[in-house]
Amino acid sequence: MDKILVTTALPYANGPIHLGHLAGCYLPADVYVRYQRLRKRNCIHIGGTDENGVPITIKAEQEGKTPREIVDYYHKTIKESFAKFGIKFDNFSRTSIPLHYKTSQDFFLNLHGKGYIVPKIQKQFFCPRCQRFLPDRYVEGTCPYCGSEGARGDQCDECGKWLEPLDLKNPRCKLCGSTPVYRKTKQWFFRLDLLEPRLKEWLVSKRDWKENVRSFTLGWIKQGLKPRAITRDISWGIPVPLPEANGKVLYVWFDNVIGYISSTKEWAQKLGEPEKWRDYWFSQDTRLVHFIGKDNIVFHAINWPAMLMAHGEFILPSQIPANEFLTIEAKQMSTSRNWAIWLDDYLDRFPPDPLRYVLASNAPERSDSNFTWDGYRMKTNNELVGTFGNLVNRTLQFINSYMGGKIPEKSSLQAADMEVLNKINEKKKEVGDAYENFSPKRATEKFMELAREGNRYFDYSKPWELRKNDRERLSTVIWLATSLIANLGVMAEPVIPFTAEKIKNFLGIKHWEWDDVVGEIINQGAQLGKTEILFKPVSRGKIVLERRKMMGNIIRFSEFEALDLRIAEIKGAERIEGTDKLIKLLVDTGGDTRDLVAGIGNVYEPEELIGKKIVVLLNLEPKKIRGVESRGMLLAAVHDGKPVLLTVDADVPPGCVVS
Ligand code: MF3
Ligand code: ZN
Repeated sequence: MDKILVTTALPYANGPIHLGHLAGCYLPADVYVRYQRLRKRNCIHIGGTDENGVPITIKAEQEGKTPREIVDYYHKTIKESFAKFGIKFDNFSRTSIPLHYKTSQDFFLNLHGKGYIVPKIQKQFFCPRCQRFLPDRYVEGTCPYCGSEGARGDQCDECGKWLEPLDLKNPRCKLCGSTPVYRKTKQWFFRLDLLEPRLKEWLVSKRDWKENVRSFTLGWIKQGLKPRAITRDISWGIPVPLPEANGKVLYVWFDNVIGYISSTKEWAQKLGEPEKWRDYWFSQDTRLVHFIGKDNIVFHAINWPAMLMAHGEFILPSQIPANEFLTIEAKQMSTSRNWAIWLDDYLDRFPPDPLRYVLASNAPERSDSNFTWDGYRMKTNNELVGTFGNLVNRTLQFINSYMGGKIPEKSSLQAADMEVLNKINEKKKEVGDAYENFSPKRATEKFMELAREGNRYFDYSKPWELRKNDRERLSTVIWLATSLIANLGVMAEPVIPFTAEKIKNFLGIKHWEWDDVVGEIINQGAQLGKTEILFKPVSRGKIVLERRKMMGNIIRFSEFEALDLRIAEIKGAERIEGTDKLIKLLVDTGGDTRDLVAGIGNVYEPEELIGKKIVVLLNLEPKKIRGVESRGMLLAAVHDGKPVLLTVDADVPPGCVVS
């Protein structure tokens, strides 16, 4: 294999990008491509937006805009937020450009000429009230496979099955809710049935595909393949290139996949080598890798290969590394219910790398995974700030403070040093294998282990003592810690590229690559560049605001009333051992005395708390913290990241209701 052609599912240009898109498809793809680049492999990332068909016209109707306005707007915003998040494309195209129209129509004609596309009169839903045909998502109803209520005419989001509108039970018009009637119309069908035997053989041979993809596809094909309509009666899309098909357009799932080819063509044109796309699409030496989310599996693992087989000139996909879904705060993401985290919104307030890191380390690779703001905060603070950032900061600070800002020279290496060098090599191998096998999650775990290893080495070597009594040993230790940081930077670059770039600059390295020899990646004697803190901790207050925003800003009065807020008097207070923040309080709530654990120990001393009257939420679910059952929560304002207790303005007895 000398070329790798990576594609990512073309997102519909009908809404912004959210965390589900990123975790399932774009981030794993970007990580993979960045890794391949570090290995100096010929790898291009091809993408764009999906701009035809019903998903666009429905959005346009909802917003009172033209489809053109919708796709122009979302193409631009999607492209921008990918760029800000560091998802790098060699070409980011659109399926509404003439080049794509032509490529799709030629593709259609090729298949039509070979007898793979045939017309047939078909019954279709028609809304008597709206006076129009209801293709795809214009009808909703009950899924015939899983019984889920909200299935759409093209697909059931619940079970992932690909549907035809007529499959739906209890169909309703999406626009007005009426029950549709049947009307006859002529459509063109793709003869999937003709390709079934070849497809089956090919799929069975794909033993190296991810288990979730393989089992889904084999299960699907077992049911037998039928011809599928690939044209529609709507007015926005690519005209069917047959004189007798006037007014009809190609089905969006026929043209969008061809977008991978047109986008590669556009890439080649922009490069000034218009034929170069052929090197990829016509060469058996190309590894074609389609990154997608799990709702796109059927289209990429069955339909698209069938289209390619029928056409016959192009290569077939090598890999389809689809991920599962990401839930948000344990609930299924839903853009219509606004239960989602939008990328551009996130980027307004937070930097890209922590989210890249958290999504990668929690990627839904084998099963669905869950994003929580608390998890985001913990991972950022403990791993990025506390482990990775800490190692970089303490090492570089040492060089700046005590070594004149120059990377020291090593002298003879001791057993502990050799061990660390071996560790770096070992981790590099593991991390590389993980990237290669589509597991950013495992890669992330492994490079973080190396960061821990680095901190252990630093602690164990005690450079602050060596500084006083063994300058030569000190140089070696700091040299090694610095090498480790540089190697960590290389290994982590695919996941946290902005951070890697900073590390490179700190260390005055112009260029690094995966195969740099572990000990030689840094230049002894080089002057450090300007250094700064790598990651900022995320405060609890910030997370509370994010969560509140998602839950919606307005609550009902009854919801507020459900909070049992009372005055309580602090009767006892002691620090919980092994922590500097946690204090165990004994409080009199009027009705009882109970334990509370509060994270206020960095601001308050236990003694000064006794006798204070505070506000407590009594009916919060109890939680065991460091072996103490905490029953309730005290209220505090958070200022500059520090808690300030709420107390009362006049003397009121414990148990007094706060409302
Ligand atoms: N627009 C589709 C979606 O968001 C994905 C299209 S992938 C393509 O689900 F390859 F077909 F373009
Ligand atoms: Zn209707």
